[in-house]
Amino acid sequence: MDILKFRKDVLVVLACCVLLIIGAVGMEWLRTDHAKKPAAVVTTFKGDPMTSRAFTWYSSNSEADAIVQVVKGDAANDWESEQVLTFKGMTATVIPEDGSLKQAVHKAEASGLEPGTTYSYRVGSGEEKGWSAAAVFQTEVADKDKVTFINVTDSQGVTEQDFSLWGNTLDKAFAAFPEAAFIVHNGDLTEEPSDEQAWTYLFEKASKWVTQVPFMPVTGNHDEVDGNAEPFVSHFNLPDNGAEGSIPGTNYSYDYGPVHFVFLNSESNIKEQTKWLRSDLENTDKAWKIVAMHQGPYGVNTYKKVKDWTELFDEFEVDLVLQGHNHEYSRSYPLRDGKIVGDGEAAVQNREGTVYVVTNTAGQKFNEKKEDKFYHKVHFQNEKQMFAGIVINGETLTYQAYDVDGKKRDEFVLEH
Ligand SMILES: [Fe+2]
Repeated sequence: MDILKFRKDVLVVLACCVLLIIGAVGMEWLRTDHAKKPAAVVTTFKGDPMTSRAFTWYSSNSEADAIVQVVKGDAANDWESEQVLTFKGMTATVIPEDGSLKQAVHKAEASGLEPGTTYSYRVGSGEEKGWSAAAVFQTEVADKDKVTFINVTDSQGVTEQDFSLWGNTLDKAFAAFPEAAFIVHNGDLTEEPSDEQAWTYLFEKASKWVTQVPFMPVTGNHDEVDGNAEPFVSHFNLPDNGAEGSIPGTNYSYDYGPVHFVFLNSESNIKEQTKWLRSDLENTDKAWKIVAMHQGPYGVNTYKKVKDWTELFDEFEVDLVLQGHNHEYSRSYPLRDGKIVGDGEAAVQNREGTVYVVTNTAGQKFNEKKEDKFYHKVHFQNEKQMFAGIVINGETLTYQAYDVDGKKRDEFVLEH
């Protein structure tokens, strides 16, 4: 009897062990499979927006290739077709400072594409289970003098809930401006750049937009800390045409339609960027010039380190400066040489002055409203996430700022 009971106990223990082993192997199989899947997929401009498109994604496999496949049309289902174009990029290893698992960053670019064309794409390692879901993008139409884009800033979150607010801001922005060709984010993407979980939330909550519409970021003081912008630049595949000494991906410019866009890094290498800015602005023949930077000269604070830049904005008649950092809404009168040159009501005519804006915040943090400055035409704190849609159509630029409840809070026009 005792022997029978003993045998039964042994069998139960053995059965439990077998189940545990099967469970562990199964979990590892799932984990490995999951690790192969691209995460934090984001598309950006790097080369010419008419003929190329760049991509970045993370995985846990630093041995994996970085491959993007593209094919014309918005409903790709045959990735074996001869029409599919395959491009190989670069894989690098990132060791997050927050102690989370080692990550692999993958960057690739599709080039030689046709302007004004819809493509499906997928990114991954090239292994069967290592592909992202397919998504769609459109190359820029050639010779078009119209463009719409979205401006947001300071998503700057920590928790999943923080980034749900950010995702909602983008949902509302694209509902209002469905034709937007790209997103300009004015910096401070997360609160703490070494917090990789926050980056995961940032991309997850906005994935339906940032996998399809280029997400062009500015470097903020929460993106570059003590000269380190590694997590920020690791997450984006951006133009590397900035000033000598700038961290690649923190300072760049590109053209889209009738506009030259300049992205400055207010956090480092300011003197070299001043030299670069002069030659960059000298060398563009685009009718419109728009600058994006984080800490601005005419936000709610006045960031004095960039005074030399404002002189160049005056000299080269920059139309609009998009700023971040202040977590309040702020719009200047048109300014030239530090003086007001228009009433802020009528359209700004013939590049008579530059308008400086801060589109409050797309995230959870609102600052208490600070004192108005002489240059403020519009300045308020509504404690609601905001976004702006900017439409350039030939000789006219229209800027409209909304809160996430759909209320238009500001609008102005520039005319050439
Ligand atoms: Fe911020």
